[in-house]
Amino acid sequence: MKAAPIYILGIESSCDDTSAAVILNERILSNIVANQDVHRRFGGVVPELASRSHQENIVPVVELALSQANIRKDQLSAVAFTRGPGLLGSLLVGTSFAKGLSMSLSIPLIDVHHMQAHIMAHWIEDSNSLDHQQPPSYPFMCLTVSGGHTQIVLVKEALSFEVLGETIDDAAGEAFDKLAKMLGLSYPGGPQIDQLASSGNMHAFEFPKPNLPGYQFSFSGLKTSVLYFLQKKTKEDPDFIKNHLQDICASFQHAVVNILVETLDRAATENGIKCIGVAGGVSANSYLRKRLVQLAEEKDYQLHVPKFEYCTDNAAMIAITGYYKFLKKDFVGHEISAVARMKM
Ligand code: KG4
Ligand code: ZN
Repeated sequence: MKAAPIYILGIESSCDDTSAAVILNERILSNIVANQDVHRRFGGVVPELASRSHQENIVPVVELALSQANIRKDQLSAVAFTRGPGLLGSLLVGTSFAKGLSMSLSIPLIDVHHMQAHIMAHWIEDSNSLDHQQPPSYPFMCLTVSGGHTQIVLVKEALSFEVLGETIDDAAGEAFDKLAKMLGLSYPGGPQIDQLASSGNMHAFEFPKPNLPGYQFSFSGLKTSVLYFLQKKTKEDPDFIKNHLQDICASFQHAVVNILVETLDRAATENGIKCIGVAGGVSANSYLRKRLVQLAEEKDYQLHVPKFEYCTDNAAMIAITGYYKFLKKDFVGHEISAVARMKM
């Protein structure tokens, strides 16, 4: 029997991207993302500017998502929005908009956890994608790596998440962004380091590796050691960074990716799980993707990596999570409010 058509509008505004998407069951119909360039010159996201930009962008972004999906508001089955974690002023814009829309259309409202949504991106069906990979099977071990989080999450079944380990200090994306700042690159640093590293020597410099119990991560020691290393080297040669930019990026990226890949491998092996994946903004990193492919080949894992546009912040992942919550009738009332810190 064919599933009844369920149209969900997803809204994401947790950080500096305003996004809206429409999904028909698991199949994505539109995914609009408005990036905020205003933060570039400040070397990081300025919360006050982010919420103002969301305020300006939200209506046109939602209208574009609906028109590209070729559906009317009154066809929507529910509205799903990112409730947290994230910047409160940013989250409030998407939350308030979603509440207003659900009220005016008298349709259910669904709250979504941003990091759960990054993982759920694996279940998005994209008819434009050449890669018709099946979604992951359960149990699924996922490395979630973004600007604010680094976690090993066990997904036991649909919407059942257990965090097995996480970072005790900085997130992986944050480490990339902080190195970028030290090197005088603009925000966000991850994509630029990825690009520069592609023509550098990853064995040029060696950085220390933390030794932590379980599946915990730490990137603050690595960041400090790079900072001292750069201070020492630029004292000896003021042009050190300029002359070794690619090698610094490649060596740093190698150190971060080693930590991520080894921890995911250990978590999967020790828990007897064959289906692994990666989610979150840092999963756009080309070297991390390459290393995961190698790992899967060596250890015979079934690897899942979402399409590039569903790795960094987007509303398609909010819409797919909303769809699964809709099936369970997991709705919230209009008294709901956004939360900056939200447990998984
Ligand atoms: O998931 P995301 O879009 O936003 C958060 O929820 O934080 O992740 C953003 C993070 C930023 O730190 C950015 O530098 C990093 O993902 N990032 C990358 C790459 N693309 C984005 N890091 C390394 N390599 C990349 N290609
Ligand atoms: Zn994110």
